[in-house]
Amino acid sequence: MTSRRIVVVTGGTRGIGRSTVRRLCADGLGVVFTHSSSDADAAALEDELGDLVRGVRLDVTEDDAPERLFDLAESAGEVVGLVNNAGVTGRIGPFTELTDADLRRVVEVNLVAPVRLCREAARRWTARATAPPAGWVIVNVSSVASRTGSPHEYVAYAATKAAVETMTMGLARELGPAGIRVNAVSPGTIDTTIHARAGEPGRAQRVAARVPMGRPGRPEEIAEAIAWLLSDRASYVNGAVLNVDGGL
Ligand SMILES: NC(=O)c1ccc[n+]([C@@H]2O[C@H](COP(=O)([O-])OP(=O)(O)OC[C@H]3O[C@@H](n4cnc5c(N)ncnc54)[C@H](OP(=O)(O)O)[C@@H]3O)[C@@H](O)[C@H]2O)c1
Repeated sequence: MTSRRIVVVTGGTRGIGRSTVRRLCADGLGVVFTHSSSDADAAALEDELGDLVRGVRLDVTEDDAPERLFDLAESAGEVVGLVNNAGVTGRIGPFTELTDADLRRVVEVNLVAPVRLCREAARRWTARATAPPAGWVIVNVSSVASRTGSPHEYVAYAATKAAVETMTMGLARELGPAGIRVNAVSPGTIDTTIHARAGEPGRAQRVAARVPMGRPGRPEEIAEAIAWLLSDRASYVNGAVLNVDGGL
């Protein structure tokens, strides 16, 4: 990889994560991104962006995922940021039909993994003698679901996103003195593959009628907010949850 400054992005092969990888590379950052099962998409992104990126097939819920991921990223350069983007909704539907398997998976991917990745980053960064000039930054990807609760769709998913926002606030206060900013981006309904995976491919268009701007968001519009929070242009932003939702 050619950039010395590296950002770790989980879930980089599709949707918001892929747009974020592209956006950060455009800023001249190196990116190490994960996916759990999309080798072809990862290879295509590496071909597109060349030496600035490295994809790694690594399920964020694996026991050794935080250590492996940061070891790999540190071998590529100085790790200055973490984007906790990988997320799953579970199957869309009424709460009474939520399966234990979906519940456990949603909590593991959306909450346990980001907590463990934040802890790995914080342990490594606070052990350093000196911070990089612009400090270190974590951006967690939440959801408008944290405010609506997602009734009739995926209440458990919504609950994990509320927890991620609470963690973001706590970590901002605990880690701020060490030079680590922690913020969240809360997207509204974005046109990505997540809706098909939940079982309703047309969901983004269906929900668009409720959005004041009359359309779902594009992944690039979320990537822009993530890139800004990671950058020095947001140097005094800490503990914020930035809604990027067309006014929902
Ligand atoms: N799209 C929306 O409307 C919307 C709204 C609000 C918030 N969000 C949030 O935005 C984030 C990105 O969503 P998206 O819509 O871009 O999703 P997406 O299109 O389904 O992409 C998800 C990405 O995460 C990866 N991933 C999923 N589980 C993983 C795991 N266990 N380990 C490693 N990588 C994993 C996927 O690759 P593999 O399948 O290969 O693992 C893929 O690269 C999520 O946190 C989501 O909750 C999305």
